Amino acid sequence: MIKPKSTLKPVIKWSGSKRQVAPQLSRLIPDANVYYEPFVGGGAMLPFRNIRKGVANDIIPELITLWEAIRDTPEQTAVEYQTRWERLQNEGHQVYYEIRDRFNQTKNCFDFLFITRTCVNGLIRYNDKGEFNNSFHLTRPGINPNTLKNIILTWSYYLKDVVFHNLDYTDILQQTKTGDFVFLDPPYGGTKGRYTKAEFNLDSFYGELERLNSIGAKWMLTFDGKAGNRSYNYELPSSIYQHKTFIKTGNSPFTKMMKTTIDAVHESVYLNFDPTCELLTNVSQQSNQKLAL
Ligand SMILES: C[S@@+](CC[C@H](N)C(=O)[O-])C[C@H]1O[C@@H](n2cnc3c(N)ncnc32)[C@H](O)[C@@H]1O
Repeated sequence: MIKPKSTLKPVIKWSGSKRQVAPQLSRLIPDANVYYEPFVGGGAMLPFRNIRKGVANDIIPELITLWEAIRDTPEQTAVEYQTRWERLQNEGHQVYYEIRDRFNQTKNCFDFLFITRTCVNGLIRYNDKGEFNNSFHLTRPGINPNTLKNIILTWSYYLKDVVFHNLDYTDILQQTKTGDFVFLDPPYGGTKGRYTKAEFNLDSFYGELERLNSIGAKWMLTFDGKAGNRSYNYELPSSIYQHKTFIKTGNSPFTKMMKTTIDAVHESVYLNFDPTCELLTNVSQQSNQKLAL
């Protein structure tokens, strides 16, 4: 697999994306049989994984259908966006609301792509009824279809050996075996999901990590973090992992949106294995705290 450039543009825009740090984090991925990503979201790590065979999963059905379309029918995916985008330019912003309403009825993945690319600040937001409710971004035309087509074709290449699932993460982890690697980027500990009503249960999550330890699967977890004065402090029990570092994952999209003082977001990275010295040096040079050796 040819490694992508670190400037690779996202194909699906996702808040909480690991885009800024994916090249750096991927250096910590050890050799393994299968790469698992149970909370794939915008999949920033997928092109940078150095394990060919991948399994990616998310709880949001339309997201997974879109990932499969990008992998299997990239040309069609690009045309589907282009058709909607041209209507938007010609007929005005009511096209956005028409497509958003249709999406809320059908969950069509191409409608999903279009609204995520033309909504306010690209923020994917659902109401309590599970309806996408962000508004149209009046001052932006949405990404040009030719630009998006190139991005889709590039990503399609990186997804060829990835199998997608739409399950709860616990079900996908049942498939893992000795010698596999799992990258975990769950919702912040203890927070209510943006897309699901259920709270993310930390005890079950810790149980899953312990199970991975017991079968000899390696994992890397980005977890608790800090954004400005807000702290999502859910320290992982020290018996579960071997190493920890902090990584700057970008600026809070919410403070950016509110145009208040922009908060830098720092997240913890936990590993259940010993990375080589070379890998540690590469990553810790850019981290805020040395890895515990
Ligand atoms: C922080 S985001 C992942 C971001 C991703 N690493 C990226 O680079 O875009 C967490 C993801 O977990 C998904 N999720 C939340 N609860 C889940 C569950 N119980 N099972 C599977 N996925 C879940 C959310 O839909 C969301 O896409």
